[in-house]
Amino acid sequence: MDLSTIRHLLSERAANFLTQREHRLLIDGQWVPAASGATFATLNPATEEVITQVAAANAEDVDRAVRAARKAFDTGPWSTIRPAERQRLMLKLADLVEDHAQALAEIESVDNGKSAGIARAVDIALTIDFLRYMAGWATKIEGSTNAVSVPFAPQAEFISYTRREAVGVVAAIVPWNFPLLVATWKLGPALAAGCTVVLKPAEQTPLTALYLGELINEAGFPPGVVNIVTGDGLDAGAPLTRHPLVDKISFTGSTEVGKIIGHASVDNMTRFTLELGGKSPVIVLDDCNPAEAAAGAANAIFFNHGQVCCAGSRLYVQKKMFDNVVSEIGKIASSMTLGHGFDAGAQMGPLVSQEQLDRVCNYIDIGRSQGAKVVAGGARHAGKGYYVQPTVLADVDHSKRVVQEEIFGPVLTAMPYDSLDEVAAWANDSPYGLGASIWSNNLSKVHRLIPKIKAGTVWVNCHSVLDPAMPFGGYKQSGIGRDMGRASLDAYLETKSVFIAV
Ligand code: NAI
Ligand code: MG
Repeated sequence: MDLSTIRHLLSERAANFLTQREHRLLIDGQWVPAASGATFATLNPATEEVITQVAAANAEDVDRAVRAARKAFDTGPWSTIRPAERQRLMLKLADLVEDHAQALAEIESVDNGKSAGIARAVDIALTIDFLRYMAGWATKIEGSTNAVSVPFAPQAEFISYTRREAVGVVAAIVPWNFPLLVATWKLGPALAAGCTVVLKPAEQTPLTALYLGELINEAGFPPGVVNIVTGDGLDAGAPLTRHPLVDKISFTGSTEVGKIIGHASVDNMTRFTLELGGKSPVIVLDDCNPAEAAAGAANAIFFNHGQVCCAGSRLYVQKKMFDNVVSEIGKIASSMTLGHGFDAGAQMGPLVSQEQLDRVCNYIDIGRSQGAKVVAGGARHAGKGYYVQPTVLADVDHSKRVVQEEIFGPVLTAMPYDSLDEVAAWANDSPYGLGASIWSNNLSKVHRLIPKIKAGTVWVNCHSVLDPAMPFGGYKQSGIGRDMGRASLDAYLETKSVFIAV
């Protein structure tokens, strides 16, 4: 399969975008090549073939983009734009994304490897809903009037209130697993708050952000409000996070890079939110139906080929049903069909890159060498494309690397437990704390467990459910701050306290 062989499966819009246009940087409302003229290739993970070339930004381009965002924020039409107008533009953009949903889903599929159908139903659908949700907040930003009693000025009277003000220029750095969706998690609250943005998509998956850039122009956002610089982490990402004219960084990606960004931010006192890795536990209690629990746990790890920050990668099953549940998951894993994103019969696609494939296969080898039993999968899938078999590892000690470290692929580690206290301790025995799921209908046990779990989201009888109204983010090394929900808007606003002596 290459683009010519799937050309007939693509909508006209996706085909035109993928094959006929130059992919440039969006700076100050204009599509421009990188100052150096450099480009990089983006690949189709299902075929390992080049889809197209994209402009490779470096520090010079990043500087132009940040200055454009700065100007739009400080003196451009955006600086005086009314909240209702921001809301209208965001709703217009949401309508355009909806109109172009099919093309966006197809491009995401070709660039990332995920199923086009799932991209449409999950990534793009949530993108649209989230833009609309956040558009509503643009007109609902509120401070407070505060009753003060200044102790050292007992005779004086003050009118005191707080104003919420846009934080300024936002650097949004996003990963490749949900490229458009996560970009929107940053753009949505930034635009609702009145910020301007420089967006850097992941180098593996730059295309849907560029398509979105065209829709942003079409919606009528003033030049410089959203700028898009494509390129890799060191040449484009690092200069963006260190730029003194950036006021806030919003990052989703690895914990390793998140820490680098956190350190760099403090030098300029740039505000930051970080949504990082995870190693989320799936806890099956003994009242569960083993087949249903197995189906839920399989979905928790294999959705998006395991390339999900909150993937349920550690499975804990009560001892008496452990063998039963694990053998059921093994059967599900072994029966899954792998195929490219336009193959309607495929249940899982390729990983995003050779790097991820190597990383995941290496972890499977480490698991084996540290004593894990391979219940299902355990190998790269033969042929072209970055496919790895859905893999289930059992009999693995809790301290081992495959239990402790984020693999970010379709690899599950399964462990038996005895008591609720034991499983709560193990669930928390991780540097991460992004998500967790509990599978049970025993209300009192579930409610005893929820407060014990150190994670930003706890799901009960489901996993990886997300909604625009619910904040998403991590405890511990899974990050700082929240995406989505009202909580995410707050991270793009400063609070100004005003005292007026009357
Ligand atoms: P990464 O953290 O290197 O990349 C994420 C984004 O950060 C990309 O846009 C990248 O260009 C940018 N970036 C990289 N280095 C940077 C730097 N020094 N300064 C500024 N920006 C920089 O993640 P990568 O290498 O793609 O994946 C490695 C591992 O990270 C994965 O195997 C997975 O464990 C984890 N990861 C977690 C994600 C999540 O959703 N929390 C998403 C992607 C990866
Ligand atoms: Mg990287």
